[in-house]
Amino acid sequence: MEFSKQIHKLGTTLFKLLSKAIGLTPDHLIGLDCSKGHCLLSHYYPACPEPELTLGTTKHSDPDFLTILLQYHIGGLQVFHQNQWFDVPFLPGALVVNIGDLLQLISNDKLKSVEHQVLANEKGPRVSVACFFTPHLYPSTRIYGPIKELLSKENPPLYRENTVEDFISYYDSKGLDEKSALAHFKLQP
Ligand code: OGA
Ligand code: NI
Repeated sequence: MEFSKQIHKLGTTLFKLLSKAIGLTPDHLIGLDCSKGHCLLSHYYPACPEPELTLGTTKHSDPDFLTILLQYHIGGLQVFHQNQWFDVPFLPGALVVNIGDLLQLISNDKLKSVEHQVLANEKGPRVSVACFFTPHLYPSTRIYGPIKELLSKENPPLYRENTVEDFISYYDSKGLDEKSALAHFKLQP
């Protein structure tokens, strides 16, 4: 519970910095309830005798605003960047921060969610703790779309408005099929 409290504090600071980074007032993202709910998901990946035949977790981006991830001593996390997989090595005491799909949607692509996967490993078990910032466990009818202050004639909205519930139910129904859920919410050019 203490970890959860501290992670929430860190998340709040990060949302303030991210707001400023995209030219908004520091409290803008928090005002949109981006830090309202967070859920901790603990993963346990057993040692795998034939890691080349499978993956720990297949390629995906997270269906939230922001993820703060703690990976334990066995690495295995990889991010997809410029058509290549890069290892995210284990660093003692370090947390990994990933932008989620919902932040990409409301920032109108100013912030990009990151595609990632976890390799299977002969060593193990591997343990990780992911903290997802998403209000989807709170019943909410709030509509999320590209933030008006970020839009202009040169930067028209790229996504349609929807509730977090809509987004999550589409993401869940689609499954981790390696395709981004965001494409489904894109406006036609
Ligand atoms: C996730 C995730 C990575 C890991 O939970 O969405 O990507 O290291 N976890 O377990
Ligand atoms: Ni993930």
